[in-house]
Amino acid sequence: MIKDAFYDPTKSYYDNYNEGPFGAFADGEVLDTKTPKSYHFLGKEVNSLFGIPAGPLLNAKFVKAALDKGFDLPIYKTVRSGVHESHAYPNVLPVDVEGDLTLEMADNGLITKEDYTDPLSITNSFGVPSYKPEVWQEDFSQAINHAKNGQRVGLSFQGTKWPDATLEQYLEDWVLTARLAAETKPDFLEANLSCPNEGTTALLCFDVDRVKLIAERVKAEIGDTPLLLKISYFKDNELLEKLVKETGAMVDGYSTINTISSAVRKPDGEQALPGEGRLRSGVCGKSIKWAGLEMVERFVGLRKKHNLNFSVVGVGGVVGVEDYHKYIEAGADAVMSATGAMWNPYLAKEIKQSLN
Ligand SMILES: Cc1cc2nc3c(=O)[nH]c(=O)nc-3n(C[C@H](O)[C@H](O)[C@H](O)COP(=O)(O)O)c2cc1C
Repeated sequence: MIKDAFYDPTKSYYDNYNEGPFGAFADGEVLDTKTPKSYHFLGKEVNSLFGIPAGPLLNAKFVKAALDKGFDLPIYKTVRSGVHESHAYPNVLPVDVEGDLTLEMADNGLITKEDYTDPLSITNSFGVPSYKPEVWQEDFSQAINHAKNGQRVGLSFQGTKWPDATLEQYLEDWVLTARLAAETKPDFLEANLSCPNEGTTALLCFDVDRVKLIAERVKAEIGDTPLLLKISYFKDNELLEKLVKETGAMVDGYSTINTISSAVRKPDGEQALPGEGRLRSGVCGKSIKWAGLEMVERFVGLRKKHNLNFSVVGVGGVVGVEDYHKYIEAGADAVMSATGAMWNPYLAKEIKQSLN
């Protein structure tokens, strides 16, 4: 059900960061959302296998509110090794998609709609903003200190290709960011490999050789802290198998998917998100569930085929209780919702009630 969003899309990223969260996430109510049994995620006991992926939880205030509302696996939005400005407002817009967003539909481009109505799909475009490490490290500590028994808080991070950087400097930035992130003692780290324009091909996750280099260097730096890789939808199954063969024994799991990229225009044909390089942006919400589910099934199949042990976090299009169960049936070890949770702060509660 669509309610007041905890991230207000009518405000900028910075206003959300400073004034948010909104809606029920601002009411301070702590729900008793214990489940009848406990579960395991990345080797630790958890109250449930449900959370919010990297993105909508901009800082500790958002993470604390998510924990209070029973999202037991929240991830703090992707951070970098230095300050990085957000893209201009708006950063979130509703898009008009009926049914599944096929890759062909995405290639043809999408049109925005008036309001955040069912079927709920949105586009988001932030440019992975970051405050300086001293700020997010202190803030993340506050977020994780708020977790109760059975709640695990993750931290998403990525390396930055600062202007004129060589490949080696880029890799060093990944390692530096990983070290700064691990210093905050998160329950797990997630490397965001699905942000546009960071690899030699369109998305870093499709550049498997580079992903392997990054995963090796990051893993060597962070020691025992569990590491997830955040991956987009792979059209090419051979490439996905290569990723699993190269990194599947090294990392603790994969989160899949991020968004599906599409050109987004207003009904009059004008580019919807202002600024250079923003005609295409990531689409998420109900219409991408098929892609997340398919990727979970493929990862589970490849894990079996190659006799590996990694976890698979199912992300994409979870807007209701049924969607959660579909992901679990597909073999997901945990499930997360960004768009669905943003507009329904009680989604974790509803899912837990369905477990009784
Ligand atoms: C507002 C917003 C911000 C996001 N920011 C990030 C981010 O910083 N890092 C990341 O890895 N994914 C980010 N994502 C992608 C989500 O983690 C998720 O993969 C995607 O939205 C698909 O899930 P959904 O259909 O439940 O929204 C963001 C998504 C949204 C809606």
